[in-house]
Amino acid sequence: MPGLADDTIALALGSGRRGAESIARGVGTLKVLSPVDYASWLNQPVIDASGLTDLRADGENAARRRECLACHTVDGQRHIGPSWAGLYGSWVTMNDGRRVLADEEYLTRSMMEPNADVVEGYRSVMPSYFGFLPQPEVAAMVEYIKSLRDVTAHGVQLPALAITPLAQSDAGAPEAGPPLLQEAP
Ligand code: HEC
Repeated sequence: MPGLADDTIALALGSGRRGAESIARGVGTLKVLSPVDYASWLNQPVIDASGLTDLRADGENAARRRECLACHTVDGQRHIGPSWAGLYGSWVTMNDGRRVLADEEYLTRSMMEPNADVVEGYRSVMPSYFGFLPQPEVAAMVEYIKSLRDVTAHGVQLPALAITPLAQSDAGAPEAGPPLLQEAP
């Protein structure tokens, strides 16, 4: 990130999922933490270990608290990262041309090693959560993302230069053909 020392980690803490964008517009707050503070912030448990009854709700809560939703939307809208709507079970095209099925393993790997698979059309700016996210949170967030598999995008505005949606209706069908996202000519 320009203007920041290499050993600092910037977190965009704005309002809700548009947080990072709020920062960009100058209405959010930007918090810069040392790696140690960042690690301890990440280590705060956000799931009550005794009450893992509603995985999906816990996952949503975790995603919010971990600021995943500062970069990802759940309504199909492209943000700093790809939307989680319709992601589970879809085929995702990577920047090296590989197509990967978005199953539980892929979702987990995306959190732990975000640079292992970088989604086409996006920059690899996602921080790695390896060693920070407790396993129950990872499982709950995977469950949350799975629950969004049938969410279809309404009123999505895609930046012209970036991507064109293809065959959105195939989102729920793993075997289905063309990639969901393709670079605009
Ligand atoms: C600073 C912004 C940012 C934050 C915070 C962030 N991500 Fe991401 N994420 C991205 C970007 C950009 C990509 C696409 C590039 C890539 O694949 O690394 C991505 C990709 C992903 C993917 C793959 C998406 C796809 O369409 O295949 C998943 C799953 C994911 N992130 C989950 C998470 C979770 C869970 C969290 C919170 C624990 C999180 N992300 C936090 C920016 C972010």
